[in-house]
Amino acid sequence: MNESRAGGKPSPTARTPAVGSAAAGPSLAFWQERFESQRTPWDRGEVNPALSKLQADGLLPPGARVLVPGCGAGHEVAALAAAGCRVTGVDYAPAAVGLTRARVDQAGLQAEIVEADLLAWQPPSRFDAVWDQACLCALHPDRWVDYARRLAAWVEPGGRLILLAIQVDREGRREGRIEGPPYHCDINAVRALFPSGPWQWPPPPYPAQPHPAGFGELRVVLHRTAAEPVR
Ligand SMILES: C[S@@+](CC[C@H](N)C(=O)[O-])C[C@H]1O[C@@H](n2cnc3c(N)ncnc32)[C@H](O)[C@@H]1O
Repeated sequence: MNESRAGGKPSPTARTPAVGSAAAGPSLAFWQERFESQRTPWDRGEVNPALSKLQADGLLPPGARVLVPGCGAGHEVAALAAAGCRVTGVDYAPAAVGLTRARVDQAGLQAEIVEADLLAWQPPSRFDAVWDQACLCALHPDRWVDYARRLAAWVEPGGRLILLAIQVDREGRREGRIEGPPYHCDINAVRALFPSGPWQWPPPPYPAQPHPAGFGELRVVLHRTAAEPVR
């Protein structure tokens, strides 16, 4: 998923504005091009195996309102809909929305698929759970505080954030370089974004599984507490 070079030509990320600029990180055009050219190494081609584990634990029961931000090709949207959840998938790449819609329709399922920028979108009501799989890591870290604030507002008090946090151990990280996508979702940064208080953290260690694109994927399930205001 690292887009720094492709066949000697500048890749879409090569045009990514510098850190700190108003438009840091990959653009909609970048993601659309990846879907159109079928260069989507983050896509397992199947449902994340973590989903059935969490369902077996009683999370994501039938009827639960579940948001899948950055839903990509929609494997998890379809699986959640098949399990009886009331699912909303959001992505701003038209190709991703098309793939998700086709998957849901072909399976004869019901889900709400929204084409929107998550950094501008406001749902009419909150969700019982948010399934963030490789969405946080798809956003430049300059966007993370904004995204985390929005995400906190999307989750019903008492609801859950299920974060599949991509772990990328690149050399440049030791020199303070910000490289991606995927951007490394360091657990310290994630803790700062979703602090204890508004969020209840289970004690580590958190389950980890390899990601097909060669990265690690840490699974963290946070509970949104009722009382704390969102910062
Ligand atoms: C790395 S892919 C992950 C897709 C899917 N969750 C998966 O794991 O297969 C990131 C997805 O987030 C979408 N995305 C990135 N930034 C977005 C934004 N600001 N608003 C909506 N979607 C966004 C991209 O179009 C892409 O489909």
